[in-house]
Order: sequence, then structure tokens, then C-alpha cells
Amino acid sequence: RELQRAEANGSTNGKVHRQYRSKIWFDNKEDPSATALHIERYLNFGLTREELKSGKPIIGIAQTGSDLSPCNRHHLELAKRVREGIRTAGGVCLEFPVHPIQETGKRPGPALDRNLAYLGLVELLFGYPIDGVVLLTGCDKTTPACLMAACTLNIPAIVMNVGPMLNGYYNGELAGSGTAIWKARELHATGAITTEQFSEIAEGSAPSVGHCNTMGTASTMNAMAEALGMALPGSATIPAPYRDRGECAYLTGLRIVELTEQNIRPSDILVREAFENAIVANTAIGGSTNAPIHVNAIAKCIGVPLNNDDWERVGYHVPLLLNIQPAGEYLCEEYYRAGGLPAIMAELFANGIGHPNAMTVNGKTIGENCIGKFSTDRRVIKPYNEPMVASAGFLNLKGTLFDSAIMKTCVISDEFRKRYLSNPNDPNAFEGPVVVFDGPEDYHANIEKLPEIDEHTILLIRGAGPIGYPGAAEVVNMQPPARLLKQNVTSLPCIGDGRQSGTSGSPSILNASPEAALSQGLAILKNGDRLRIDLNKRSADILLPKEEIERRKQELMKNGGYKIPESQTPWQEIYRDTVEQLDAGMAPKSVDRYRNIAERFIPRDSH
Ligand code: FES
Ligand code: MG
Repeated sequence: RELQRAEANGSTNGKVHRQYRSKIWFDNKEDPSATALHIERYLNFGLTREELKSGKPIIGIAQTGSDLSPCNRHHLELAKRVREGIRTAGGVCLEFPVHPIQETGKRPGPALDRNLAYLGLVELLFGYPIDGVVLLTGCDKTTPACLMAACTLNIPAIVMNVGPMLNGYYNGELAGSGTAIWKARELHATGAITTEQFSEIAEGSAPSVGHCNTMGTASTMNAMAEALGMALPGSATIPAPYRDRGECAYLTGLRIVELTEQNIRPSDILVREAFENAIVANTAIGGSTNAPIHVNAIAKCIGVPLNNDDWERVGYHVPLLLNIQPAGEYLCEEYYRAGGLPAIMAELFANGIGHPNAMTVNGKTIGENCIGKFSTDRRVIKPYNEPMVASAGFLNLKGTLFDSAIMKTCVISDEFRKRYLSNPNDPNAFEGPVVVFDGPEDYHANIEKLPEIDEHTILLIRGAGPIGYPGAAEVVNMQPPARLLKQNVTSLPCIGDGRQSGTSGSPSILNASPEAALSQGLAILKNGDRLRIDLNKRSADILLPKEEIERRKQELMKNGGYKIPESQTPWQEIYRDTVEQLDAGMAPKSVDRYRNIAERFIPRDSH
């Protein structure tokens, strides 16, 4: 395909000379006055006519780092090396800001901003003279937002992660970002640690620049980018402060120019096989429950059909190989030294899992990049036939409660399994009375006050979905009341229409779609209703007669439907009107209509 395109574009002596889209701005034969107008302002930032008119590719650096987004802030430094790579390879570089998304900082939740950053980046890539783009990714939502935009445009693009933080420690033990906090919350609730100690644990877990050092959503989504073939092999896991990270930045800059010259676009790489590679990789690394949401959204933007049934069918039976928190012990520094994602893919490919022939941005197949790159540290990356957990992927549950919800099986603890999933007459199933919370405020206000909560209770949170919250909050992993924690009941079954932090090791049933705000199954529940979850049958049901479920739905609709709080900003209102449900990736509804837009449309002139 690449060759055919090169010929069509007039390749000579192996060097491809093609008409870049930036020519419409800088060398517009039909409208020289427009060209003069565009060139004049880029000259005034110090670029030369030669750079703008000689037909060199103009490469964007989509900068996600800023003071507002500390996880990605190191990109302000790394971008300098990316720029040097681009210059060395003969490209012209334009760096610009992407709407910042900081996972820990943004209220009422960073998920709300993923679509905003996506839409903003689409407008920038479409409306400015950009021929190819380096996507500087890192913190959870920055990676999918950037990839989604590159897919919608379908211009040459390459992902470069900021890299994880160095290992965190507290009292000489590894303290992983997020994961240490969830544990500390439990200890704090029982009075085992003071508030000061809580802060020390939190601060100890974040010792350097970079994103979370656990297999949270940031590590997961950058592993996804690499498994999809959109990042240089081995690049996802290099810790942010390591010298290798700067080298990777330079190589990424070199490579984007070649990709742009050869017009290798996301649609050449992001085919069905690439998405299946991402799914099997996600299981093997113990990836975040946010991955199906974001990867399904990326698939939607490029036009590959993908849903949660695919995640279960392709990914459930794959074993967990990586011993990293929250599913295991170690952190990203050990993971990097143990071989990173190539060592994981080597195990999978050697055992017939995944598609080694899928193409990647370095011009080789993922098999060529990874086959034989086995780990030398078997504490961290297990051999395929001695895994941490067999069949470690996500289950996709369905029933009268919802049409789809995900459960991450590799984090089900022995304690949980013994209490809920070990009835010999009814294996892998449990039922119990539900206690319902309408949003996290209701949970925090009442969890300690409800005497009916015991170890048989199922906790359910609703009003936490994309429309309801808005932005699908990470609140489903609810802690039991302190009196149960003191009896060593450390987790109750949790269900919700929100999400859960990728750094949490809780076996919740989450991302439930449709959410309560759409007045379906979750919305009609009352405290004490019995629910039944059957992991063998993949079912999640309300134990009420069908007629009663229907009657309650109609009554709810008569009363105006499930109540959600009012929007507090214009974007929240627009977001609620346009967002899809979590199982569809909570992307804007219109992405289907706007694929491949850099090829389909020439933006009209501005003056
Ligand atoms: Fe930014 Fe975890 S909070 S990566
Ligand atoms: Mg989070």
C-alpha cells in the first residue's frame, strides 16, 4: 500500500516527494495573497521562507504538558529533543498546546475533558498547516484524546509517552501511585494511620516527574498505544527521568518525518488485528478497566467495529503475565528493566496469541519488533505457562441491570472469591440485597450510618455515568463501612455506572451501560432489592418479576425520569447532549460522520 501510494505521489530514487496539505497555506498557486498572509505571520516567529515554501513536511508537536498537568509536564523538556529529531530529518516543527487534562486535579472529573481535548485537537490539526503530528501523551485521558484526534484526521502520527515516575517508597516498601492511596484510605478509615501518615504515603508514592508508576490507566493506555503499533517499540515504559526517554524523544522526531514523507497514516496501522493485539496485551499486563472505554473510542474514530464482547472473546482467556501493582507487586522501573511491552508480546506471540504481522510506526511488524525479546527477570514478567493468573481478562456482564458492564477478574482476591464465588452448588455466582447510593456524596454521607450493610450486601452507586455525573466519575470501588473493615471484610461487591481508577485493585462491576441517567435498570432499584451476579453465565439481574421492573420504569418516567444535578458550565451541557455511553467509549456521538477528514476535506480559506 505504501509503495502504491509512493508511486502515485511521484517517488524518485526512493525519496518521496509529495504534496503536503500545508501547501494550501504556504504555496497556494491559486491564491498567492492567501499564501502571503499565512507566511507573513510564521516568518515573524523566526521561520524562513525556505522552510515554509520548500515543500518540507510541517510536523506538529501536540503538547499536553503544562503547569496544570504535572503528570505530563516533563514533556515541556522532552519536546526539545523531539524537535531536534524533526529538524535533523528535514521537517519543520510547530509545537502547540492541547487542552490540559490532569487526572488528579480536574473537578468534577477529567473524563469530561477527554472529549474536549479531542475536539480541540481535531480543530487544530484540521485548521492549521500540519502534515504529521507527534502526540505527547502520558496521564490517563491524554493518550486516548490525542489518538482519537489523529484517527479522525488520519494524518501520519506517532505517540510518545512522557513515561512513568520512578518507584515510590514508604517505610522502605514500594508504594505505587494510586494503589498506595487506596490501601491508605482503608487504614485511615479504621484509625490504623494518622492523617499525616496518609499524606506521607501519598507523597512517597509520587517521587519524580512522570505519570503513575503502577499499571493504572496511564501505563495501560500507553501500553495500548504501543501494542496498537502507534508508538516506537519498547517506548511506553521508559521511566520519565531516564536518559533513554530523551533518546526516545529524538528517535520519535526522526521517525515522524519519515512517516509523513511516506504518508503512512493511522488507518494503515490501526486495523482489526492491531486492536486485538491491544486487547490481549491489556490482559497480560493487568491493564485498567478504563482501557475498553478508550480503546473502543479510538476504534470508533478510525472506523474499526469494536465492543465489550470483543474484549471478552479475544481477551478473557489470556493469562496475566506482568507482576505489577495493582494486580501484582512491582512498579514500572522493574517492568522497564524486565523488558517492557516487547517482552510481554514475545510471550504472547510464542504461544500463538495475537497478530505478529500487524504493522507499526517504525516500519516493521510488531512481530519483527518483539518476537524472541523474552524477559530476563522472571520475577516481573512470567513465562506464559507459569502465569500470575490464568484467564485474567475482562468479563462483559449483561442482564436486567444493564446491557454491558466490565469486571476485571485478575484482581479478585482470595478473600472475595471465598466469600462470594465458592458455593459448590452455585459456583462463580452470588446474590444479595443491594444498598443504593445516588452519587459519591450520598455514599460518603451514609456508608457508616446504614445498619443493614453486612458482608452479604451488594453496594451499588448510580448517577456516576457520562451524563449523570457528568463525565463518568471513578467512584465505583466503594469501601465497606469501618465496622466491617475491622472484621477484615475489606471489599464488598460493588456495581456502578461510573468508572474505577486503573490503580485500584477492586473487583467491581463497572462502566455499566446504560447509566441510571437514562432511567433504565439501575435507576429503578430500591434498597433491599435482591441482585444476582453469575460470572459463568456473564449475567447481572434484578431478582424482580419482569412486570414489576416495567412498572417501576414507567412510574419513574411519569415522574420525569432519574434526577441528575444541573450542569455547572456550558461544556457540561454540551457534553451531556453529545456523549455516548461507556460501552461505546463515551465518545461524541458524531465521530462516525467525521472520519479521514484531512483527505476528504480542504478547509476553506479564512479571509
Ligand atoms: Fe496522571 Fe496517574 S494521575 S498518570
Ligand atoms: Mg483516575
